[in-house]
Amino acid sequence: MTTYAGRALGPDAVVHGFLVEGVMRGAAELRLMPGRTGEVAVTVEDAWRLTGIGSALFGRLLLTARNRGLTGLVMTCLSSNRGMQRLAARFEGTITTASGDSCATVTARPATPLSLWREVVADSAAATASIIDRQIGLLREGAATVRRPLAGG
Ligand SMILES: CC(C)(COP(=O)(O)OP(=O)(O)OC[C@H]1O[C@@H](n2cnc3c(N)ncnc32)[C@H](O)[C@@H]1OP(=O)(O)O)[C@@H](O)C(=O)NCCC(=O)NCCS
Repeated sequence: MTTYAGRALGPDAVVHGFLVEGVMRGAAELRLMPGRTGEVAVTVEDAWRLTGIGSALFGRLLLTARNRGLTGLVMTCLSSNRGMQRLAARFEGTITTASGDSCATVTARPATPLSLWREVVADSAAATASIIDRQIGLLREGAATVRRPLAGG
């Protein structure tokens, strides 16, 4: 597990996370493959599913991929995985099934000035949101400390 997590943060991988109050509720990992394709894995915590998080994370990875010259993304899972298939369909992916496994392939369009700009804006918005999230957390911790009675007092 530790080895896998280390590789996920390596130079041939990109991970986008969906965090709520500092807790990661979903993540999408893009790993470069030979050629100009990438393998994607998306996972969202049970209680947070069906609210668009998986689509948002996948869309974010697709933007990352096209801006780095990749031409397609591939996701593999069991053929019974309706969630992954619906997710891929949202991005006009094609699904192939063999031996109980499904493979979804989604095309990444060539980068444009607009797609590069969208990534900068998305990154800036995410950085700002995480700073605000952290500051709210610190304020809450501060308020809880003030309310807590002094030990022995
Ligand atoms: C697949 C997964 C990432 C989807 O995440 P999510 O946040 O629920 O996805 P969204 O809310 O963006 O939904 C995207 C679409 O999939 C559909 N969907 C999601 N889960 C579904 C399910 N279990 N059964 C049927 N449809 C499902 C949604 O209704 C939506 O469809 P729509 O485009 O018709 O509206 C999530 O179910 C998950 O983490 N599964 C376990 C890990 C996994 O299998 N990952 C995929 C292989 S890498």
